[in-house]
Amino acid sequence: MTDLIQKDLTYNWHPYAQMSIQQANPPLLIEKAQGIKLYDASGQWYYDTISSWWCNIHGHLHPGMVKAIKQQLDQLDHTLFAGITHKPAIELSERLINITPDGLQRVFYSDNGSTAVEVALKMSVQYWRNSGKSKKSKFISFDRAYHGDTAGCMSVSGEGAFTQAFTPLMFSGYKIPTPYCYRCPMGHTDKNTCATACIKFLEDALNEHADTTAAVIFEPLMLCAGGMLNYPAAYLAEAARLSKEYNVHLILDEVATGFGRTGTMFACEQAEVSPDFLCLSKGLTSGMLPLAATLTTQDVFNAFLGPLGSNKTFYHGHTFTANPIGCSAALASLDIFAEEGILSHVQELSQELRKGIDIFNDHPLVGDIRTIGTVAAFELVKDKKTKEPLPGNDQTIRDIYSKGLENNVILRPMGNVIYLFLPLITTLEELRDIISRTHASII
Ligand SMILES: Cc1ncc(COP(=O)(O)O)c(C=O)c1O
Repeated sequence: MTDLIQKDLTYNWHPYAQMSIQQANPPLLIEKAQGIKLYDASGQWYYDTISSWWCNIHGHLHPGMVKAIKQQLDQLDHTLFAGITHKPAIELSERLINITPDGLQRVFYSDNGSTAVEVALKMSVQYWRNSGKSKKSKFISFDRAYHGDTAGCMSVSGEGAFTQAFTPLMFSGYKIPTPYCYRCPMGHTDKNTCATACIKFLEDALNEHADTTAAVIFEPLMLCAGGMLNYPAAYLAEAARLSKEYNVHLILDEVATGFGRTGTMFACEQAEVSPDFLCLSKGLTSGMLPLAATLTTQDVFNAFLGPLGSNKTFYHGHTFTANPIGCSAALASLDIFAEEGILSHVQELSQELRKGIDIFNDHPLVGDIRTIGTVAAFELVKDKKTKEPLPGNDQTIRDIYSKGLENNVILRPMGNVIYLFLPLITTLEELRDIISRTHASII
């Protein structure tokens, strides 16, 4: 064990980690990164198969990104964003409004995915209060959702290991069954013929609770931490229609799905949906710097206007709101999308991924294969017929992770799901290599 790892084990506390077993399973000491590869201190390399926590888009250290950050560092590093503004934030807001669905006209910055969601939740609740409808303060969300780790985000996420210790901190809301096609809550067996019948759960919840509901909050097209559960665009389109009909906001959390991940710039485009709030982070800066944005409509913005002392102000902000270096990184990332034709490459990559993963079909442990954009997920089961899940703490899953590292792929499991979440610039050749190394690791 190196000195640095020893110090890491002495001083650091890693997220989601049982630190009592870290001595036996020390973290990888990553020294450098280039393109879609990470290199550790011993010289071993790994494909960054989870896009460094679902945020890397253009590969590591893309020269265009590095240049933009360096240039910004010669100009302005950081300043507060209250009573002060700056060019990178102004330009970025204009660009975000131009590339997101019509109707989104205002940008509120923060610095991570959870804060982007908290801002949307708080804005929605205060919108109704400012509009004389304070009773509308609850949220409808999926029972397997994940929207972040702060108290508000946990409250609208599914219950489980991530939230169970914190229930005293959380507020109540209305949870509806997730459109989890492999384990359909309606008992259907074919998602092509079910006509998204499970939308009924949302309609029932709205019917019963619309007068106390501020918003419906969803991850559009794919619940990521829920196990990469993708669902039909038709469900989202109908959910948007119902939200309007019942006069509740629609919050779309595109923290993980935004910026090309599902094949289009934003997942909601595939359902032709424009939400009342759109939450962005992760891929916003191609994963280089912490930045987040919550976009909303002019109608929402207007509800916060009033004379001083009218109590309509949105009292929320963060130290690093609209950090200029982060904004410059985001602008550079948007330039690269256009200059390098990233979205058309994603189409090709996605098709190849869909074909390539066919080889997992025959694997006795792989019960379901899900794919969208640059994401592929393999749900592991004990028995394909009964669909009994392989327990998340099963040794097999830990062995797959270790085998993956030996094969230069990072297959960090989520419960009984192993997945690939690839940087958008992954070449077709790299993709084939990654698929074959992943196949060799699922023993
Ligand atoms: C859909 C979604 N929302 C919110 C978050 C929280 O983002 P962060 O970890 O930056 O707080 C995540 C993180 O994975 C996410 O996947």
